[in-house]
Amino acid sequence: MDNFELNKIAAAVFGSALFILALTIVTDFLYSEPELEEQAYIVDVGESIVDMVAVVEEIIEIDVMALLVLASAQNGEKVAKKCVSCHNFQAGAPNKIGPNLYNIVDRQMGVMDEFAYSKALTARGTNNDKWNFDNLFHFLENPKKWLPGTIMGYAGIRKPNDRADLINYLHTISPDSTSTIEE
Ligand code: HEC
Repeated sequence: MDNFELNKIAAAVFGSALFILALTIVTDFLYSEPELEEQAYIVDVGESIVDMVAVVEEIIEIDVMALLVLASAQNGEKVAKKCVSCHNFQAGAPNKIGPNLYNIVDRQMGVMDEFAYSKALTARGTNNDKWNFDNLFHFLENPKKWLPGTIMGYAGIRKPNDRADLINYLHTISPDSTSTIEE
């Protein structure tokens, strides 16, 4: 074996050792437990995000009226197209898969004649609960979450502005409503 070949072997051994060392460092880094400090930091960030979401939700809740003041009934009428497969909006029109929604704002829940409401909605009506702005706003975001047991098969409208526009429109077709939209 000449010197040249010995050098090649040494280089190969050295190269593999270096490779294994690098691999160890990288895997250690990837799979190491975070230091306590880092963990505390991660929890902190998580909690701040939860806090932030709660604050935003609170603001949105407080501002239902502010949203309604700025809302467009004209756009709301377009949003209401999402409902027409199941609801009529004209006075005296029959119930469809869902009850007629003419005069819905401030109407007692679950009171349309000849409509077979869920137990959940009937119970709210018996309790004399009304479809005021707040209740509509939260129901329409996620019907099944707000009213567990409802048979309204509709996922909900996520955008607060769209819900406000829709409710503003419903208000224009609710002559018996006792609520006004003003700040
Ligand atoms: C797939 C059919 C379907 C769609 C789409 C639908 N609904 Fe309904 N809706 C129902 C049914 C069924 C009920 C009765 C729910 C119950 O008894 O729990 C209902 C009930 C309601 C009620 C309560 C009425 C009352 O008399 O107490 C309101 C308000 C309402 N829907 C609004 C809407 C709006 C606004 C939309 C459109 C964004 C919509 N719904 C879309 C089927 C639907």
